[in-house]
Amino acid sequence: MAYYYPEPSRTFSEYLLVPGYTPEGCVPANVSLKTPLVKYKKGQEECPISLNIPMVSAIMQSVSDDTMAIALAKEGGMSFIYGSQSVEEEAAMVSRVKNYKAGFVVSDSNVTPESTLADVLALVQERGHNTIAVTDDASPNGKLLGIVTSRDYRVSRMNPTDKVKDFMTSRDKLITAGEKTTLKEANDIIWDHKLNALPIVDKSGRLMYFVFRKDYSAHKENPLELLDSNKRYMVGAGINTRDYEERVPALVEAGADVLCIDSSEGYSCWQAKTLQFIREKYGDKVKVGAGNVVDRDGFLFLAKAGADFVKVGIGGGSICITREQKGIGRGQATAVIEVAKARDEYFKETGIYVPICSDGGIVHDYHMTLALAMGADFLMMGRYFARFDESPTTKLNINGTYVKEYWGEGSNRARNWQRYDLGGKSSLAFEEGVDSYVTYAGSLHDNVAKSLYKVKSTMCNCGFITIPDMQANAKMTVVSSTSIVEGGYHDVMLRSTGSKG
Ligand code: IMP
Repeated sequence: MAYYYPEPSRTFSEYLLVPGYTPEGCVPANVSLKTPLVKYKKGQEECPISLNIPMVSAIMQSVSDDTMAIALAKEGGMSFIYGSQSVEEEAAMVSRVKNYKAGFVVSDSNVTPESTLADVLALVQERGHNTIAVTDDASPNGKLLGIVTSRDYRVSRMNPTDKVKDFMTSRDKLITAGEKTTLKEANDIIWDHKLNALPIVDKSGRLMYFVFRKDYSAHKENPLELLDSNKRYMVGAGINTRDYEERVPALVEAGADVLCIDSSEGYSCWQAKTLQFIREKYGDKVKVGAGNVVDRDGFLFLAKAGADFVKVGIGGGSICITREQKGIGRGQATAVIEVAKARDEYFKETGIYVPICSDGGIVHDYHMTLALAMGADFLMMGRYFARFDESPTTKLNINGTYVKEYWGEGSNRARNWQRYDLGGKSSLAFEEGVDSYVTYAGSLHDNVAKSLYKVKSTMCNCGFITIPDMQANAKMTVVSSTSIVEGGYHDVMLRSTGSKG
């Protein structure tokens, strides 16, 4: 006879935290959200890679490219670059993150000396930037011949056909700096010479970057940024259980800090084989997470197979239709609670702490706090990040509302059938995800700050200033369906449709 769980599986919205005593000093400013990303001997050694905020972005085409990775690493979290692209393309995205120099901007507005004022004005309009590089071939890394800024032309007194070479500030009048210049040195030059932009050029006179005066304060504003020992941003990358022999070496070579096997269901011999390949080739040097699982057995299997962290969640993602298509899954809260127990049990037995990641199904900011309190060490989110400027998808205006596109890896659009692969004929693949829109929400920086301030405030209400303390001592209650009604506004008429605060 089949096994029946005695309790129904539950979602985050069915729980609330019960506040605890808040002592003096238990205020959001004192809360640390630092959390381990990979396994370690807790109590005996430092975790080799910790996140400064408990957020990672989903391994999805519509979420995690190099732009997202840089923006999230700046805040202290990590992106996992999507694996549903060629090995070369994925490795190139990883290297772009690793080679990114904060404050050094590749010029996106470029003309040649033969271009016209009209070309310049069109570029300013299109890109919104006033500093235009003049290079021999109008490429961002061409030979630098001059720059054009709004100080170089007066639209009312000039002809649109006037040539750039006749009004640009030419190279001999420009102050530039060499390719070895550090950000601090570049900023000093900018201040000393009262510049707005400093071109960085290589030995042969090719333009490499601009450093802008207006960015100066921005680079001092990220105390939590996630950096490796060479002060480069950290980045993760998705792999699959098919082409790992080729993909893993390429990603390691490109500098990926952590890998993660991306699969909708990870309690399988294929994940164990992939982990075995990595351990045999690289020992413990290459860090790799595995998943997804939703119970104790799945967690223990992957932990014993060598996973550095284990991802939890089947069927809870916002774009996910796995439960409808296949009838597998488990309420995300129940899955996290059970796997967290298994992790603690495994730690007691072996002394090794294998962090767990709650993946999918976070809708409200308070779900983040609940997931952490239930034992998740960090959270993977797709929908949340897809809404921001930094996600790779198109922003559209639909009936007066700005939205961004967001599609599942198992949708016809992504066609990432490997993620759902059980070795059968690919012609029989079926969709496990949808193609959708999410409401555009602005910049990652502003949204993450707001969400995490809420998380910290809740933690303080409950008397905690660290995640481990909350995990060990939180008090939680299941709520009845009627008390969920009580939790929203009720028995009043709204004056406007704004936020309910
Ligand atoms: P969200 O944060 O609720 O949007 O969920 C994101 C998570 O959904 C991802 O990290 C994946 O684990 C999962 N996911 C991504 N694409 C699909 C899909 O097409 N079908 C089912 N699950 C998906």
